[in-house]
Amino acid sequence: MEGVTEFDLAGIRRDFPLLSEQLHGRRIVYLDSGASALPPHQVVTAMATYQETTHANVHRGVYGTAEEATRLYELARKDVGRFLGSRSGADEVVFTKNCTEAFNLIARSWGRANLRSGDAVVLSEMEHHANIVPWQQLQEMLGFEIRWIGITEERMLDLSNLDELLDGAKLLSITATSNVLGTINPIAHLAERAHAAGALIAVDAAQAVPHAPLDVRALDVDFLAFSPHKMYGPTGIGVLWARAELLRAMPPFLGGGGMIKDVRLDGFVPADGPQRFEAGTPPITEAVGLSAAVHYLEALGMEAVHEHERALTTYALDALESEFGTSVALQGPPDGPERAGVLSLTIDGIHAHDVAQILDTYGVCVRPGHHCAKPLMRRLGVNATARASFGIYNGTDDVDILIEALHATIKMFG
Ligand code: ALA
Repeated sequence: MEGVTEFDLAGIRRDFPLLSEQLHGRRIVYLDSGASALPPHQVVTAMATYQETTHANVHRGVYGTAEEATRLYELARKDVGRFLGSRSGADEVVFTKNCTEAFNLIARSWGRANLRSGDAVVLSEMEHHANIVPWQQLQEMLGFEIRWIGITEERMLDLSNLDELLDGAKLLSITATSNVLGTINPIAHLAERAHAAGALIAVDAAQAVPHAPLDVRALDVDFLAFSPHKMYGPTGIGVLWARAELLRAMPPFLGGGGMIKDVRLDGFVPADGPQRFEAGTPPITEAVGLSAAVHYLEALGMEAVHEHERALTTYALDALESEFGTSVALQGPPDGPERAGVLSLTIDGIHAHDVAQILDTYGVCVRPGHHCAKPLMRRLGVNATARASFGIYNGTDDVDILIEALHATIKMFG
């Protein structure tokens, strides 16, 4: 397949030690990068080397290794900023525990300071719970309105009433790519419409950042959050990018050490910049791993990553259609530039958990369930899907095994 053969798939696979392990005596076919991507040995080694040679707490000690730990931690902020097209990663990148915490930070810090009863926040029906529940929790405290962008039969955003929804809204908070449908949303367009209505825009880029070039300035967004462990980095760290002027005006979210300039018996003064939002010892080793993941993807080139996964998605959609017709339903838009490599399958009469369990016996790893998007599942009228999601190490051979295993599943239950 063009694109896929130009990409050095065999070389990339050699970088991922877990891919040479066996699962039930078979080659692992890892199709669950949407839940968590595998880390390459470059990331694992960077973290181990840091732990063995440098580890100390950051922003505290003055001895050599402590200063080196601080330098590496702050370098990670700059690496992430560069990767996202930020003007200054040092002023705009906050490290959190995960992407979910980043949304809680936006809600509890910016939201609490800026939203009142009578205001509105606009979300979409295809959001992950991470971009729903923090707003619902805040709504219980402040009493603002949550408005919902619906989805069309083609599983795209229904933007027909967008201006009405944005009228008087303070924030549009929306996913760049649906973790269930694989729909890629038009973020630059949404940012323009939100700003024209006087609202800010926050973007859940967890399923977008690992798969295509992304530039926060070109998109002209205000907040953007993502999960390093979905981009071949470690778990235990999340990223919130926000425009520096917004961060400067936002109150701290969590309190404690590291996030202050001064503390007295009668109060505290918060630190400037991203550190204001990083209470306690931050995820230092994980930041080092995240830097390594950024370098790994930069070396591959995000354009090449995107082309590879785009070609693979087309191959998979065509193959599923020609092998199964309508007996395997795909919850997502048709193939095209708005379609990411996320394949949510339902098979009449077979529960998604059973599908996933049979696939497992073929070495195929997929995620069954509601994918932390229950409002969307209700809208789709399904309880669960079996979701295959692609990463840089997947090829057409993985899709072929998925299809063989799906045939076996249907035969077993048929
Ligand atoms: N949010 C991750 C997923 O969609 C865990 O699987």
